[in-house]
Amino acid sequence: MAKTVVVVGTQWGDEGKGKITEYLSSKANIVVRYQGGNNAGHTIVFNQEQYKLNLIPSGIFRSEKVILGNGMVINPKSLIEEMNYLSVRRILTNSIRISDRAHVILPYHIALDELQEELKEDLKVGTTKKGIGPAYVDKYARTGIRIGEFIDVELFKDKLKYQINEKNEIFNKYNKPLFNFDDVFNEYVKYASILKPYVTDTSYEIDEALANEKKILFEGAQGVMLDIDHGTYPYVTSSNPSAGAVSIGGGIGPTLIDEVIGVVKAYSTRVGEGAFPTELKNETGDYIRKIGREYGTVTGRPRRVGWFDGVIVSHTRRVSGLTGLSINLLDVLSGIDTVKLCVAYELEGQEIKHIPSTTKLFSRCRPVYIEMPGWDEDISDVKHFNDLPKNAQNFVKKIEEITKVPVVIISVGPDREQTIILKDIY
Ligand code: GDP
Ligand code: IMO
Ligand code: MG
Repeated sequence: MAKTVVVVGTQWGDEGKGKITEYLSSKANIVVRYQGGNNAGHTIVFNQEQYKLNLIPSGIFRSEKVILGNGMVINPKSLIEEMNYLSVRRILTNSIRISDRAHVILPYHIALDELQEELKEDLKVGTTKKGIGPAYVDKYARTGIRIGEFIDVELFKDKLKYQINEKNEIFNKYNKPLFNFDDVFNEYVKYASILKPYVTDTSYEIDEALANEKKILFEGAQGVMLDIDHGTYPYVTSSNPSAGAVSIGGGIGPTLIDEVIGVVKAYSTRVGEGAFPTELKNETGDYIRKIGREYGTVTGRPRRVGWFDGVIVSHTRRVSGLTGLSINLLDVLSGIDTVKLCVAYELEGQEIKHIPSTTKLFSRCRPVYIEMPGWDEDISDVKHFNDLPKNAQNFVKKIEEITKVPVVIISVGPDREQTIILKDIY
């Protein structure tokens, strides 16, 4: 049985990673986020309650400890708001640990995110405007502020002064409001003192836990198609959601990862800009959007909807080393006469089974579909694979065949209970 499991998004995010992480967290001692920030929106449903988490790992309800790993970018104000949101709902937050090496998102990152999108005009990415990209830019420019520096008043003061001067030059150039050092410092130093008790060397904690036979679950945010290296660049996020980033962003050796579960929708969705070969701009797309309630968790934007794309999930299998698939939202396809699965692309007269690296070529790819008969039955209460309608079973088996990854979980509704397990993970 596995000791360390990764839950990773295989498409463009919102595959239901939060639901699957929360489900698996009943067996995991520690749940770790390894990248991204509050651009993520993870929905969890149990006991007739719905929770939406942006920064706090979805294990907060049942595991012993949750970790915000060093690969993350953390908006301290948002984190405190999220902790309060949970406390009000009587969910304890004292098990949170924050990596001293994670980077801090400050208000000028958000203003820069907005400005960059504005300047890009037609080439905008459609970001969540949470300051994610600019915070990672500072990290790699080696001018960013790490959590360990943020909670040290003197270090924070020095670094913030430099940052505000640097950023104000840009805002000045574009006639945008400038940031006042004292205002930002006085507000954020208060957040730093609230968060200080939670800050630690989280890689050390994970290592100790593993030495004590504890089980660790890593929760991806976004999805592989939004990965800065393996996604549809430049229409991506600024981190690596792919499973390889667990090692760097969690501070754990790559040799210690046992299983990688790819979460996939029974169809596809995307929020924000960028090519999307299987996109449905018709009544079927509208139907799936309505039944699947496909509206962004973070921004409320309607999600773009399309058929399942096997080229994409095969790409994810390759770059993230998937050992199992969780097919989510299968219930949403009930009532559709004929369901389609993309198995290849047609590009300039050739059939291809890989993703071209440029937007120019990717946007010219036309999906090659196979069609399968759908099913009418409501499957949202089904508990066993054999009780699914035959056509739904065949659809699942076809996904397995196309992607070459065994299906280990099927999700038939947002609730924790609406989960079919085909293979025990832990
Ligand atoms: P995440 O970002 O990957 O955690 O996914 P989101 O929470 O942003 O979006 C997934 C949406 O689908 C949420 O509203 C979930 O409550 C919901 N959901 C998850 N699994 C299922 C499922 O199997 N069926 C249905 N109908 N909804 C689901
Ligand atoms: P979860 O974890 C879906 C998208 C944005 C935009 C692009 C870049 O809930 O699956 P960013 O703000 O990261 O610079 O935006 O990435 N995006 C997501 N789409 N789910 C997410 O997270 C996303 N996080 C970012 O819409 O297209
Ligand atoms: Mg989401």
